[in-house]
Order: sequence, then C-alpha cells, then structure tokens
Amino acid sequence: MPLEGLDGKAVVVSGIGPGLGRGIALQCAKAGADLVLAARTQARLDEIAEEVEKLGRRAVTVRTDITDEASCEHLAEASLEAFGRVDGLVNNAFSIPPMIDLADTSLAAIRTAFEVNVLAALRLTRLFAPALAEHRGSVVMINSSVLRHSRLTFGAYKMSKAALLALAQSLSTELGPAGIRVNTVAPGYIWADSLKWYFDFLAGERGVPAQQVYDETAATTDLRKLPEPDEIADAVVFLLSPLARAITGQCLDVNCGEWHH
Ligand SMILES: NC(=O)c1ccc[n+]([C@@H]2O[C@H](COP(=O)([O-])OP(=O)(O)OC[C@H]3O[C@@H](n4cnc5c(N)ncnc54)[C@H](OP(=O)(O)O)[C@@H]3O)[C@@H](O)[C@H]2O)c1
Repeated sequence: MPLEGLDGKAVVVSGIGPGLGRGIALQCAKAGADLVLAARTQARLDEIAEEVEKLGRRAVTVRTDITDEASCEHLAEASLEAFGRVDGLVNNAFSIPPMIDLADTSLAAIRTAFEVNVLAALRLTRLFAPALAEHRGSVVMINSSVLRHSRLTFGAYKMSKAALLALAQSLSTELGPAGIRVNTVAPGYIWADSLKWYFDFLAGERGVPAQQVYDETAATTDLRKLPEPDEIADAVVFLLSPLARAITGQCLDVNCGEWHH
C-alpha cells in the first residue's frame, strides 16, 4: 500500500449499516486501516467485522448508541484499548425524520433527528479529539445532497444535515490548530439495497422493468449512473488519507454529477 493509503491507521466508523457504513468500513480496510465498528445491532457489526478480517485487517465491534453519552465514552475507551491510537472518525449514522411538510412535523421529531444527525456527531468528535490530535487525525461527516435542494417533505432532514455541515466547518476551524482535519462527504443516490428495493417497488407500481426506473433516474446525472457505496466510500478514504493533508472544512459531493457545487 502506498504512503497515501491508510496503512497502520485505526479508523472508527459510527453507524455501521448495510449501505454506506459497510462500504466505508470495507474500503478503509482495503486501504490498510484497522477498524472500530459502532452501531446498535451487534449481529450486523459481527458480520461486517468478519468481512474486514477476510481482507486481512483487524476489526473490533463496540455496540454503541451514539445518542447516549456513556455509550460513546465507552466507544472512545474501547477504541484506544484495541489499537492504541485513533487516526480517523467517520460519522455515518443518521436518523430520518418523518417525510412530511415542516408545517406538519412535530418539534419532537425534529429534535430526534438533530440528536443523531448533529449532536451525536459533535459528541463523538469531542470525545475522540484528544486521540486524533496525537496523530494529526481526521474526521469525516457523512452528509447528503439534501444540502443542494429544498424539495417538499425533506425540510426536517435538510435542517439537520445543514446543521451538520455547519458543525463540520466550525469544528474544522476549532480543531485545525491541533492538526485535526474535519471534512464532509455528501452523497445523493446510493445504489444499495434500500434504493434497489424502492426502484423494484416503483417499477411494480408502473408495470415497467426496474432497469427502466434506474435508467430514468441515472439520466439526471452527468455520468448516467448512480454511485455505489464503494465509490462514495473511496471519497471518505481519500479525505482520511495523507493525500488530503491540506484539505479541511470542505464538503465533497459524490453524486455522479447530479448536483454541481
Ligand atoms: N441512503 C441514502 O440514499 C443516502 C443518501 C444520501 C446520504 N445518505 C447518508 O449516508 C449515510 C449512510 O446512509 P445509509 O442509508 O447507507 O445507512 P447505513 O450506512 O446502511 O446505516 C447507518 C446505520 O446507522 C446506525 N445508527 C442509527 N442511529 C444510531 C444510533 N443512535 N447509534 C448508533 N448507530 C446508529 C444504524 O444501525 P443500528 O440501527 O444498528 O444502530 C444504521 O444501520 C447517512 O449519514 C445518510 O444521511 C444516505
């Protein structure tokens, strides 16, 4: 692995799910990193840890609820105990508020989305900052192309992701003097199980092949395709790696050219 990879580094991914979380863990492992995998579902953590180990890297699983302070403190301690260092933190976990107009969304539902999408990312970054500072580490926040539009029903989600972007930028300013970089990756469509299921559903409703739904959607991107988890994860690996050593406070849109920014 060349210098610009993640060889010898330890990366914590919070929000290991079947989509992008898994992709980030596996691409980091392919780039040479050992992984700390965090989410609430132990069975999924175990499955993905096995996949990481098959790639020849070490993986530890830490069942974590990122909305809980004690649980996050345990994650930070367990990460250092496992590898003696933390070079990267990826905040991937998210919560989708009800997809209805803001006028009809309860403030409680908006608060819940903020707890996971914004405050938990801040909580984890604070907890890991001392360890990250020891190795000029970096943080990547996973955002969304909802930053680029204001479509109906996306209001509460957009509020939380816009706040997450603001958080990343302010943390970049605050933590930069300690050598810690804080960047954002903003995917649009992710060609993974949930979108595949949704396109099958739409195709069934319209009585057309699922490929047609894919092609129509892909036609809205410059590259005429929808990004796969690995393709988005590679942007995360880049931002974690020394190749991005002069990049901080930035947002990288990874969407095959659906939105330009
Ligand atoms: N899917 C899309 O189309 C899309 C598009 C644009 C951007 N994004 C962004 O990409 C990221 C990943 O999305 P994804 O759909 O691919 O998800 P994913 O990586 O498959 O899964 C994310 C995981 O986060 C975990 N999580 C949620 N709340 C948590 C909590 N309180 N504590 C710990 N873990 C928690 C969940 O696992 P547990 O339930 O096991 O805790 C969930 O499986 C998100 O930030 C999302 O906003 C997604």
